[in-house]
Amino acid sequence: MGKFIVQGGNKLSGEISVSGAKNMATKILAVSLMSEQTMKISRVPEIEDVKRLLEILEELGVKIERVAKGEYHLVPKNIDLDKFNYDLVSQFRASILLLGPLLARFKKVKFPHPGGCIIGKRPIDLFVKGFKALGAKITEHNEYYEFDANGLIGAKIVFPQMTVTGTETLMLAAVFAKGTTTLINAAHEPEIRALADYLNCQGAKITGAGTNTVVIEGVAEISAGEVEIIPDRIETGSYVALALATKSNIKITNCHPHDILIPLELAKQMGADITIGEDYIDIKAARELKAINIKTHEYPGFATDLQAPFTVLLTQSKGQSLVHETVFEGRLFYTDFLSRMGANILMCDPQRVLITGPTQLIGKKLESPDLRAGIAMVIAGLIAKGETEIENIYQVERGYEDLMEKLKGIGADITRQD
Ligand code: EPZ
Repeated sequence: MGKFIVQGGNKLSGEISVSGAKNMATKILAVSLMSEQTMKISRVPEIEDVKRLLEILEELGVKIERVAKGEYHLVPKNIDLDKFNYDLVSQFRASILLLGPLLARFKKVKFPHPGGCIIGKRPIDLFVKGFKALGAKITEHNEYYEFDANGLIGAKIVFPQMTVTGTETLMLAAVFAKGTTTLINAAHEPEIRALADYLNCQGAKITGAGTNTVVIEGVAEISAGEVEIIPDRIETGSYVALALATKSNIKITNCHPHDILIPLELAKQMGADITIGEDYIDIKAARELKAINIKTHEYPGFATDLQAPFTVLLTQSKGQSLVHETVFEGRLFYTDFLSRMGANILMCDPQRVLITGPTQLIGKKLESPDLRAGIAMVIAGLIAKGETEIENIYQVERGYEDLMEKLKGIGADITRQD
């Protein structure tokens, strides 16, 4: 496994560009299986989760051509379900998006429990409930689930709690279901709207994507066409936290500032000097930042995926901050690495920490438990005194394309050892 070596304290400045969104790219790739026509995707982030998904599709029989960096043509003819790579599927959460398209094509699919970071137990009970409502028969074995649906029937599905991939997976499954499907209390993420926009261009009939009620009129088939991945809002927000924590003048380009208005608002409450344009965020170094409270919330609230980078920022803010992680039950345990680096953090309960700052961080040997704690470690290393070593950077490179090159581009002292 590779590791990053980060020397802290460099003054950073310049421009950093945002790549295509991991949490759209990994879903739109699954959509390629919904038609036999060629699908052309641009601005694909060449990150580990995308590479794994391309491997799964290729083994299934999809012809994949990489016409340029980030540009792929997929021809999903002659799909062989016997070639489904269970091990790869169980390595990351987004693979569950394959379920709907495969079920529509093959009527019967064996599917392992999807993987995902260790931020919580990551159940799929809401997916099972949804597929049962659509008429699928589901048998649970200890290693996998068996989904059997000779054609799905549209239904009303009420999510007792919002689920991003649950909304996306059942939206995809409903495209070919007979009749109308209504998703109540659906997730609102921008990636969900982008997914629906593409599907509608190809003949699907989806209304309300990006709101809490999505209605899908089933159709017999859809075509395939071109789609560009939207900028990654979590990568964008991670660089906002990095710029503020390192007290740097950084311009974040090729992004959608309007997808992270709440985190930007909180940064301004801290005293940050931020100017936003159509596709950029300009950050001027602030002498001192004030402590604030952060409570994660489903979109458009403060994204749980930005909690770790912003928690590092709060160790450098003056005063006491409370961070309340409401979405995942295991997404604050990484903070022990910050305490080891010298941060003053009190864990009130598994989902709430109190941070008193500012404190000087000292470089340490760390290991990245998941991709967002991993980027938090990189940010901590950039502000710490001395050297920080971060092991298991596969977890970081799952979600941040060309991270080392981008950080070197703004003056960071970061190297990689394989
Ligand atoms: C998506 O995960 C993202 N991953 C996550 O990003 C993100 O943190 C999360 O949404 C919340 O925004 C992808 O899109 C690939 P959920 P997902 O279903 O869909 C519970 C990253 O860093 N739940 O919205 O798996 C669940 O346990 C990753 O890029 C059930 O109880 O998250 C959690 O507490 C990490 N039963 C809550 O809902 C279910 O059947 C929200 O989870 C499904 C979910």
